[in-house]
Amino acid sequence: MKKMHAMQLLGAAALLAGTLAVQAQWPRQPEPAWKHAAWMNQSLSPDERADLVLKQMTLDEKIDMIHGEGMPGWGKPKPNAYLGNGGAGFTLGVERLGIPIIQMSDAAYGVRSSAANGRYSTALPSNVGAAASWDTDAACQYGALIGRELRAQGYNMTLGGGVNLTREPRNGRTFEYQGEDPILAGTLVGNRIRCEQAQHVIGDIKHYAVNDQEDGRNEVDAIISKRAMQETDLLAFHIGIEIGNPQAVMCSYNGINGDFACENKYTLTDVLRDQWGFKGFVLSDWGGTHSTEKASAAGLDNEEPGEVFFGDAFKQAVQSGKIPMAQLDEHVHRILRAEFAAGLVDHPIHKSVVDVFGDLAIARHIEEQSIVLLRNQHQQLPLSASSLHSIAIIGDHADYGMLSGGGSAQVDPPGQHPAHWGQHVWFPTSPLKSIQAMAPQARVSFNSGSDPATAASLAASADVAIVFVNQWTSEGMDLPDLTLPNHQDDLVAAVAKANPHTVVVLENGTAVTMPWVDQVSAIVEAWYPGSDGATALARVLFGAVNPSAKLPMTFPRSVADLPHPKLILPPPHSESAAPVQRKVLTSPTFSVHYDEGLKVGYKWYDAEKKPVLFPFGFGLSYTTYSYSGLKVTPGDKPTVTFTVTNTGSRAGVEIAQVYAALPASANEPPKRLVGWSRVALNPGESKQVTLSIDPMYLSIFDEAANHFRLVAGSYTFLAGGSSQSLPLHQSVQLQ
Ligand code: BGC
Repeated sequence: MKKMHAMQLLGAAALLAGTLAVQAQWPRQPEPAWKHAAWMNQSLSPDERADLVLKQMTLDEKIDMIHGEGMPGWGKPKPNAYLGNGGAGFTLGVERLGIPIIQMSDAAYGVRSSAANGRYSTALPSNVGAAASWDTDAACQYGALIGRELRAQGYNMTLGGGVNLTREPRNGRTFEYQGEDPILAGTLVGNRIRCEQAQHVIGDIKHYAVNDQEDGRNEVDAIISKRAMQETDLLAFHIGIEIGNPQAVMCSYNGINGDFACENKYTLTDVLRDQWGFKGFVLSDWGGTHSTEKASAAGLDNEEPGEVFFGDAFKQAVQSGKIPMAQLDEHVHRILRAEFAAGLVDHPIHKSVVDVFGDLAIARHIEEQSIVLLRNQHQQLPLSASSLHSIAIIGDHADYGMLSGGGSAQVDPPGQHPAHWGQHVWFPTSPLKSIQAMAPQARVSFNSGSDPATAASLAASADVAIVFVNQWTSEGMDLPDLTLPNHQDDLVAAVAKANPHTVVVLENGTAVTMPWVDQVSAIVEAWYPGSDGATALARVLFGAVNPSAKLPMTFPRSVADLPHPKLILPPPHSESAAPVQRKVLTSPTFSVHYDEGLKVGYKWYDAEKKPVLFPFGFGLSYTTYSYSGLKVTPGDKPTVTFTVTNTGSRAGVEIAQVYAALPASANEPPKRLVGWSRVALNPGESKQVTLSIDPMYLSIFDEAANHFRLVAGSYTFLAGGSSQSLPLHQSVQLQ
């Protein structure tokens, strides 16, 4: 032993001597000159630092910064493709000046393409699911997790941050967004971006703007009044930008009132820059650039993923005087500024290992706050592990895993091949196993549900039947309707007939219709639940977690009740929704007229007096709450005070909501959400809630004056537990 020890010491000494010798022979590289350059002074503003760098840059370096360098699988790779990090794109920096490459990755509910790159990513619950928590802290945790995992994987920019309003629930990307209300959606996405960008990744908000359907997205023109746009879709972006301060905005594929979003002066300059004061840069959605001069003048700063318009064509336009150098400088300044503001220059990337278990716990916690209890007859839930002898688990993949949303948002599950476009990807989070773990004494059996008759006979033999139904959605496609696919409605009906204790669990990206709603005892909305979704679900089913989430979007009774019962589809020759290598259009080819205007989501159903399946803001709990004592104090920032009491026997969190009905002369839908609070209450406990309401949330957009203003008159404030359960109301005069 002793001898070995001595030998080891000798070996170590030799190694050290060798290392020292090598170090002596190879002196350390001198520090690059830029380390001491004026723009490295962190006390200067991002604008000052950007200007100092800009002065040093050549024309070619500037042009390199305003376009992407290609995307894996998108056309022929460029010789410098090796500089990429495997993400959706990258834009060159200036190495000699210490400006890093911007490495971009999709990261809607987790970092994309980890399988292809031999990495690991956590999948969080879908965005619309997490929005059901109405929780700004959870949104912050969501963003911080993604920011950390991006950095660990070698990225310094996210392409996440989707906030298009659910104007059209058949939109295949509804799961990537934050629901139908601009104030809720904007607040949540803003908090997500704020915490994501704090990890020193450039934050992004997308798809700007009115990208409300996927079918024909590359050529559709959204026709909408300025007022309607400003008070709905744009308001969500504005709030998101105010709170999150993202350094990037991604313009969308579609047109808006005649001009494509990536060459639309109204949205990119008049609104984004002049009205909102946005100082970051605008990048195009992948293949969403349609011109050089027009796009540049309208306010597009960076073409992705290639350089069809913002490469040589741009250089020539500058050299021939068609585009002034000052305009190019402005684009470059904004990109440099974003790099300084988000901390890319001061905090270079160091790849590291993702905190797999820590991040799984966060994903589970967020899902626990996102699961919405939609129905619970005779207190079917929570299930009691001690009194159940048999549980029938029925439904596609319910033994193996839970579904995720597709398209560029897709996160790869660990140990699986890279997900291909159009594939339905199930995360290996097994409901069967999680339920068995919660009820170890019970006999838990499984039937895939492919044959309703055998599923029903299994259900008949069990104390309780839990049916898992799913609806897969993805970028690049809309749903034909909101019916569960593959005859799953028949499956639920058959099981419900066989067992009076039937619980339905939904794994879906948007609203679904439920012809069997009155036949089942409980309905649990689990969304696409993420990497550890089944654990979260089982904890809700068995009452370890008391559900608190509320719907961020209306579930209509039928597509016939939607503002557009029929989706407006692209013409037959269409360029299709797939983004790869399309012919370039100079203008949109067909239009969708958003004549419902301000009436998005619950505002439509309220105004049209259409009953719904489940309203916006709705969600049950294992306890009950009551509301009392509303007091509204008018003023510059009106305050709304009321009391919430837990009238049941379990601790819980109530999402208390405040809506306002504007004066009739404002010509608005019946009411709008203006604030909310998540109130944690023990059994019997009461808490007073005070919300001060941002006057902008009470305002309307005055098209003639081109700004938001408060309409003088009587405002009614309503408080309660959902958009259709508002027991308290008080009217006050404002202005
Ligand atoms: C999507 C974007 C995405 C980009 C890069 C596009 O098809 O619309 O949301 O960020 O691809 O993958």
